[in-house]
Amino acid sequence: MKIAFVGKGGSGKTTLSSLFVRHLATAGAPVIAVDADINQHLGAAIGLTEEQAAGVPSMGAQLPQIKEYLRGGNPRIADAASMIKTTPPGSGSRLLRITEDNPVYALCAREFTVDGARLRLMATGAFDEADLGVACYHSKVGAVELCLNHLADGAGEYLVVDMTAGSDSFASGLFTRFDMTFLVAEPTRKGVSVYRQYKEYAADFDVNLRVVGNKVQHEDDVAYLREQVGDDLLAVVGQSDWVRRTEQGRAPGLGELESANRAALRVLREAADATYPLRDWGRYTRQMVRFHLRNAESWGNAKTGTDLAAQVDPDFVLGEFAQQREAVTA
Ligand SMILES: Nc1ncnc2c1ncn2[C@@H]1O[C@H](COP(=O)(O)OP(=O)(O)OP(=O)(O)O)[C@@H](O)[C@H]1O
Ligand SMILES: [Mg+2]
Repeated sequence: MKIAFVGKGGSGKTTLSSLFVRHLATAGAPVIAVDADINQHLGAAIGLTEEQAAGVPSMGAQLPQIKEYLRGGNPRIADAASMIKTTPPGSGSRLLRITEDNPVYALCAREFTVDGARLRLMATGAFDEADLGVACYHSKVGAVELCLNHLADGAGEYLVVDMTAGSDSFASGLFTRFDMTFLVAEPTRKGVSVYRQYKEYAADFDVNLRVVGNKVQHEDDVAYLREQVGDDLLAVVGQSDWVRRTEQGRAPGLGELESANRAALRVLREAADATYPLRDWGRYTRQMVRFHLRNAESWGNAKTGTDLAAQVDPDFVLGEFAQQREAVTA
């Protein structure tokens, strides 16, 4: 299951992503956490030391190797250099699975034990001042998009991305790549306005968007969110002393999290799991092709000097069993 946390800066994306991955991991589920936020803090929020978090390589820097691996023996992709972030998989491409070991994880992921459970962490790498709003930003997040477009994930296993909300994520197809998008909103006008903007963009792309209220203090806060976002409000997380203690470096275990907040995490997982039967790999594949053709035309063809539309394999549908099926027919 592919899950994104988005929202306004400072709303609590990183905090809630880290709580959610810890919740999944301690429940025994395979989980990969991906830090794709402008502020790279997911490792610290998960409870890693500065040294551990700094040891997670930047996906952006490994992009050529990631492309080379995913391309595999796909005859429609001449070389890694002609592969862009939206190049879709086709017959011969290599797919990624959540639980396997593969060269992409060997390069980009690091495994940690948190709350006695194993989880993997990947990170786009820091965005420096010069990156913001320009191509580098997209190329870093592009590594995540490429991996998601090659990910054959099943029920009960999770890839959770701490993202940023805002126009940057709409410039690429990344925001359409998730089974579930949790929009973290504080009960404020600004928090809600980011939700409205996101909802509007997402409307044409069948994005499953639910709001998670955060730093909620009173019943009034809940009523405010309910009034503003209606049934899109899935759960609320309260202003948490546990989170504050974490920020103070006291590293409380997940088991000590306030029970109402633990219950909210269970609601998030149930909502994410409930989308599984609604999955449509055909639509998922068509969407990635649509974004690829759009990118090809607007900059990709010019940049690579090739007709990137020719990379599309019209018979290929990504799916959990895509490669196995191929192996059987071969
Ligand atoms: N439920 C909560 N209770 C108490 N403090 C919280 C809660 N959620 C978030 N915070 C605090 O609010 C601040 C911002 O949270 P966080 O870093 O998770 O937000 P973010 O959306 O990831 O921000 P950025 O846009 O900067 O990446 C942090 O200091 C965090 O500890
Ligand atoms: Mg953050």
